[in-house]
Amino acid sequence: MNWQKKEHRKPQGGKIRALTTAMTYEDLKGRKVLVTGSSSGIGQATAILFARQGAYVGVHYFSTKDGAQRTLKQVKKNSDGALVAGDLRDEKQARSVVEKFVEAAGGLDILVNNAGTMVDRQSFETGTLEYHEDVYATNVRSVFLVTRAALPYLKKSKGNIINIGSVAGQTGGAGGSGMYSGAKAAVATETISMAKEFAKYGIRVNSVFPGFIETRFHEQYSTPERCREVAKKTPLGRNGTGEDIANAVLFLASEAASFITGEYIAVNGGLYMRA
Ligand SMILES: NC(=O)c1ccc[n+]([C@@H]2O[C@H](COP(=O)([O-])OP(=O)(O)OC[C@H]3O[C@@H](n4cnc5c(N)ncnc54)[C@H](OP(=O)(O)O)[C@@H]3O)[C@@H](O)[C@H]2O)c1
Repeated sequence: MNWQKKEHRKPQGGKIRALTTAMTYEDLKGRKVLVTGSSSGIGQATAILFARQGAYVGVHYFSTKDGAQRTLKQVKKNSDGALVAGDLRDEKQARSVVEKFVEAAGGLDILVNNAGTMVDRQSFETGTLEYHEDVYATNVRSVFLVTRAALPYLKKSKGNIINIGSVAGQTGGAGGSGMYSGAKAAVATETISMAKEFAKYGIRVNSVFPGFIETRFHEQYSTPERCREVAKKTPLGRNGTGEDIANAVLFLASEAASFITGEYIAVNGGLYMRA
């Protein structure tokens, strides 16, 4: 590990900013990493930073092929990788994403279960059953299906898993994000359950809980005023970037975290703190 200068840059939606990482993890070089949902936002930054460490990266997308192609282009500036596509709510497609990645990479060392979204904002009082089912399928079923498909390969590599939860899973969310919050709390708890179950295979399982991160997510679900309000009330005085989350993922994936499992890192600028 080497310390390098870290600069913070203002979050921007859409185009890919120049990303920085403060650390070099020698052990991530050559690792085979599948990052679900890396066509955009947090997953995109994570894929690019893994490539900076010399990892081979699986860039997964569902509907945003051009975003995934942009990610892969950046990945290839530093390392190599492959595009894999599929709707991770679907068992066959989730399995095919993992199999296609393993075929291209020759194995799997690190799985980042990042794909997910709020789908919509709906309240418990008036929200539909369809919405409830979809938000859990998108955020919880997807993690289960991809992890189960990946398990035989992770057992071989004694690899590790990082699940992306959310601060909403800790607070219960607000403004129609309650069911999404419940789904993210399930991801958090299942991270611990998986860590217990897979420890016998030498597989570590951890999670990162992002706070308010300015990606396409908030372009879809929050107004610019809301983004400014949250930045103001955040103790560190800004909203997060994809690379803020990616840097925590890299640490958990690396040998620097080799005795850490069933844990989470909250990356939220102090927006929510443990008592
Ligand atoms: N931004 C935040 O403030 C925040 C806070 C806490 C947690 N998170 C979590 O962080 C993760 C990444 O979010 P983000 O902010 O980077 O959002 P984003 O920019 O909207 O990216 C979401 C990613 O998930 C993929 N995805 C969505 N539904 C999918 C499905 N059914 N099957 C497969 N892939 C699917 C998308 O793929 P396509 O675009 O290709 O369809 C995209 O790559 C999510 O799990 C989100 O819940 C975000």
